[in-house]
Amino acid sequence: MTKEEVIKIFSEKFGNEAPEVYASPGRINLIGEHTDYNGSFVFPGAIDKGMIAAIRFNGTDKVRAYAIDLNESAEFGLNEENLPEEGWAKYLFGVCREIIKRGGTVKGFDTVFSGDVPLGAGMSSSAALESTYAFALNDMLDLGIDKFELARIGQSTEHNYVGVKCGIMDQFASLFGKKGNLIRLDTKSMEYAYFPFNPEGYKLALLDTVVKHELASSAYNKRRESCEHAAKTIAKHHPEVEFLRDATIEMLDEVKNEIPEEDYIRAKYVIEETQRVLDVCDALEEGDYETVGRKMYETHHGMSKLYEVSCEELDFLNDVAREHGVTGSRVMGGGFGGCTINLVKDELYDSFINDAKAQFKAKYGHEPKVYDVVISDGARKL
Ligand code: GLA
Repeated sequence: MTKEEVIKIFSEKFGNEAPEVYASPGRINLIGEHTDYNGSFVFPGAIDKGMIAAIRFNGTDKVRAYAIDLNESAEFGLNEENLPEEGWAKYLFGVCREIIKRGGTVKGFDTVFSGDVPLGAGMSSSAALESTYAFALNDMLDLGIDKFELARIGQSTEHNYVGVKCGIMDQFASLFGKKGNLIRLDTKSMEYAYFPFNPEGYKLALLDTVVKHELASSAYNKRRESCEHAAKTIAKHHPEVEFLRDATIEMLDEVKNEIPEEDYIRAKYVIEETQRVLDVCDALEEGDYETVGRKMYETHHGMSKLYEVSCEELDFLNDVAREHGVTGSRVMGGGFGGCTINLVKDELYDSFINDAKAQFKAKYGHEPKVYDVVISDGARKL
């Protein structure tokens, strides 16, 4: 939706006085999955799909919000006890509360928003929403909060008002995204580096299974607990280990008998995935896309067999990609449904997409959705 369209809907709902308009994107992640709550590396980029919102202060202590795509309205106060019922409104409320907790003053506002990040596809529509409002309120209220803290405001919203104990990757990518660049982020030190990403002769394609399995957030939180337990157990022997990122497979093997088998395989995946991100960064610097692709397949295997966050439909798409000679393919994001990300040679692109659509439809009765990816800028005022 364009700025003009959002303003038009805003004025229909809340009158003609002009609002401000802000936008924030969703993200892809080339590699480094479930590493961001383990102090490790991720390698995301913002995309050309996101959320757009029109906002104007309304002189009250209430927020009046309209979700254009859902045709739903919500109204809520800004005190802790005013948590709204509507799932989507919790994100807006959480962002306001997290700003207030950090000492910021938030005033009541009217807002409408819309988005084109496919929901449940693993492209972080929720982070796009959080970043839009965190960025906008910070700017409009002149709060002087830096972008790292804005990302943490989005993350804390997930933790405290949505119930997902997520890492920082999605909010970071949504705020720090830069056109044509992926970002390698060290989630322990928060140091980051932009990597121009324009793989000549290749395309990135996202294939969305359009399935979202229930209980994804509790399963996600459970993965995190396993990792934290493994890291704590290792730290008893190696006090320098704060996160799994600091551990080696040898250290993990030392505590194998002290932790449940489940925690062991989860931690093994994370330690291996940490190395894969670094390997992919090296390979990219050499223009070695074959290695990048091989690592993507290894990640898929780890996410499917060790971390167990894939599902039948995602594994199926991964198999189709491999059989088709696609350079790299893996489940992207939290898992339990959503997308695969595929690094495909230009000349294979059309036949792969057609093949994947046909085979998937024959098995599951519907086609996967296909999205081309354009790596774009982060949060901004329009
Ligand atoms: C979700 C979370 C992120 C990250 C990914 C998996 O998108 O929000 O913090 O953990 O899953 O890499």
